[in-house]
Amino acid sequence: MAETRRIEKVWKSRPTVEGAGVRLKRAFGFQEVPQLDPFLLLDAFRSKDPADYEAGFPWHPHRGIETITYVLAGEVEHQDSLENRGVISAGDVQWMTAGSGIIHQEMPRGERGGLVGGFQLWANLPAKQKMMEPRYREVKAAGIPQAKTKDGATVRVICGEVAGVRGPVREIVTDPELLDVSVPAGKSFAHRVKPGHNIFAYVVEGEGYFDPGRDPYAREAAGSGWSDLARPCVCGADTLVLFGPGDTVEVTTEGKPVRFLLASGKPLREPVAWYGPIVMNTKDELRTAFREFEAGTFVKGSRR
Ligand code: CO
Repeated sequence: MAETRRIEKVWKSRPTVEGAGVRLKRAFGFQEVPQLDPFLLLDAFRSKDPADYEAGFPWHPHRGIETITYVLAGEVEHQDSLENRGVISAGDVQWMTAGSGIIHQEMPRGERGGLVGGFQLWANLPAKQKMMEPRYREVKAAGIPQAKTKDGATVRVICGEVAGVRGPVREIVTDPELLDVSVPAGKSFAHRVKPGHNIFAYVVEGEGYFDPGRDPYAREAAGSGWSDLARPCVCGADTLVLFGPGDTVEVTTEGKPVRFLLASGKPLREPVAWYGPIVMNTKDELRTAFREFEAGTFVKGSRR
């Protein structure tokens, strides 16, 4: 019998400054490890003011992780030490496996009127694949198929499968799903998920119910779960929902529509040694990475 996942925890993303001075909102990061394993970090950026983002993310290294950039408005110019370069535009996804290491820069550029918006998600790599050859999967907006569910939801399928529609990003180590789900007012979305996977939703806009019990904090009175939200019953923009165990996720709406990212991944359950943009298993591996970066021997991969 299908068991619907309840909300395990829920919280709001928090303003932070990253890169050379980019103002963004962090849904989760270092502090939350290992709750969202294999995911490490989710940053949301959205601003019309170039002062909030134009300093960008100048040259920096990554090793041991994947960074997934999903642009909703404006664009992000990307350039790396292997002479790869490109532009991630609204609706595009760049799924970058840093593996053994890349050094890159990521510079947001506003659309007319200045607006830039999007996300960066970090997924961890297992010990065995941390030093794999770097690779990119760049998917243009037109290459991301849209699924319509029988309940009336519309889903951009980046990675995974909904209503027989399969996303273009495949063969990723942690077997993830990444969906951009829109549910109109008064409708619902039900999605089968892998039982052992960790799953989160991040609300982009609107509001919805992410727990079949409507008020998951009925349980709080019984001594389980916690929240930093006063009324968590309805989840609005900038809310991170971490689901508990089960094999189905159900989201329903009332008077307003909701749009959210839904991500699922297989937990690695390995030690995490994390400093800045590099995530390894041990402090020794971290030291090696930064020593190599200083010495100019960091990049192992060949040009794609
Ligand atoms: Co980066």
